[in-house]
Amino acid sequence: MKIIVTDKGRYKHEISFMEGDTVRDVIEDEMNEPDFGLCGGCCACSTCHVYVIKGTYSTMRNSEKDTLENLADDIEDNSRLGCCLTLTSKNDGDEFIIV
Ligand code: FES
Repeated sequence: MKIIVTDKGRYKHEISFMEGDTVRDVIEDEMNEPDFGLCGGCCACSTCHVYVIKGTYSTMRNSEKDTLENLADDIEDNSRLGCCLTLTSKNDGDEFIIV
């Protein structure tokens, strides 16, 4: 299974994931994106901010919403924290842009 991620240089990457991985973790493992996911996936830094271009995910919890609103720039309706997005087989082919 794969997701498609556009990095800050606007290059598209097709990266593999396993069921239960988070978007943050597969980007960290498969891409060389500087200053990404710095808190280790604790929903505390907002450096894993992505736009969800294609894909459906669970509703945002208050902790994710608070971190986005307090720490992230350029928030859009499709903004999410990659560490809060858990991938399943239904997400094969989903697309994201790193903000
Ligand atoms: S990795 Fe820090 S908020 Fe997601």
